[in-house]
Amino acid sequence: MMRSITSARAGKSQMLWKVILLLMLALPTLALDNGLMRTPPMGWMSWERFRCNTDCRTDPKNCISEALFVDMADRLVEDGWLKLGYKYLIIDDCWSFMSRDNKGRLMPDPIRFPNGIHKLARYAHDRELKLGIHANMGKQTCAGYPGTMLDQIEKDAQTFADWEVDMLKFDGCYSNVNEQQKGFPLMSKALNATGRPIAYSCSWPAYRGGLPPSVNYTFLGEICNLWRNYDDIEDSWESVLRIVDWFFQNQDDLQPVSGPGHWNDPDMLIIGNFGLNLEQSQAQMALWAIMAAPLIMSNDLRTLTGEARNILQNKAAIAINQDPLGIQGRRILQDEGHIEVFWRPLSKSASALVFLSRRTDMPYRYHSTLSLLNYTSDSYTAYDVFKDETVSLPSVNTHFTVTINPSGVVMWYVYPDKSLEHAKETGGHPNFQRKYAHASQQRPKHNMAPILL
Ligand code: GLA
Repeated sequence: MMRSITSARAGKSQMLWKVILLLMLALPTLALDNGLMRTPPMGWMSWERFRCNTDCRTDPKNCISEALFVDMADRLVEDGWLKLGYKYLIIDDCWSFMSRDNKGRLMPDPIRFPNGIHKLARYAHDRELKLGIHANMGKQTCAGYPGTMLDQIEKDAQTFADWEVDMLKFDGCYSNVNEQQKGFPLMSKALNATGRPIAYSCSWPAYRGGLPPSVNYTFLGEICNLWRNYDDIEDSWESVLRIVDWFFQNQDDLQPVSGPGHWNDPDMLIIGNFGLNLEQSQAQMALWAIMAAPLIMSNDLRTLTGEARNILQNKAAIAINQDPLGIQGRRILQDEGHIEVFWRPLSKSASALVFLSRRTDMPYRYHSTLSLLNYTSDSYTAYDVFKDETVSLPSVNTHFTVTINPSGVVMWYVYPDKSLEHAKETGGHPNFQRKYAHASQQRPKHNMAPILL
């Protein structure tokens, strides 16, 4: 009797193991399984603003050096950025010495980074920041520094892990299709194999035209946390518009592939530099929020104006960008009057709308209703993100007018009023000055979704 029970148990547990094994085999093998970046990453990166300035002798405050990153780390912490989520401090190109060390490892320029990258990582970690670094799949980086060839990938991943780096931006200059095809996935595996959670940003798609079928976004989502799809941003409104146009013209391909843990990256925020006026700065912030884009600034945090700071630290815009559903938004309308409307569904039955004016004449009064934007049957309140005021829309047929300045935006956070009632009952109120929160626990209703362009 004892024997038969034991053998029946043994049989059952063998079965169970078989089932588990089969299930494991059936699941896709994810090369990247680091659980990082469930919302778009936020932080600061050196490239757009400081490029490859290595002239520390005559320009010590602005050259790519330990001192620059220490300065930015201090600013991120002391000026309220970290509290808002800007936690990645990312070293872009031009940090390394022109040759590898005697063990074949990448090494920082000893004059510009006298204490090495590990010390810098410690400096960041002591302040609850994360440190990112740039490397390049190929012979050399775009700026001509040592690259990572296929047989150096494991070594470099280990070096970054030894330095306690938290994120790698892996570029693709000076490599061919085959090397990229092998190298980008291999780096993903190598980073995983170090056992250190290192977020992985792949520039691969940007080197392959950014679109299917040349780019397999399903696969990319399995091996990278974010990826640059398109050209580098420059310090101008034209550059912002070029990027915006490309992303929204290709939204059918790009919008569905982004989500928690794997994001499209239209490149850095240039707000606070020289190329954007106030309106355009708000527009970049609003559109990056709609795109669920990484909010990685590249500016000089030491000299930022109050105006730029207010835009970059706008809590509602940040909250929209960081919405936990992580659904990228879309352009839903291009009006003959050169007004464009963008929409992003958000958690708790809310949504974001951005009205962009591409006009060059005067503030434009744009008339519409929510039903024209395909919202259905509900009563809503719209919170104007940059004006900090609300507009009541008791019905989807209520007419409203937004005044949009040339090359500017009006950005709305739209929430159904029943969530407000619920909020009142529970003592909460959707007030972005205090907190991005309102009380409805409902999932977004599909019937409120505008017909997508
Ligand atoms: C490429 C990247 C940029 C930057 C430079 C550095 O152009 O797209 O973001 O990293 O290389 O050389």
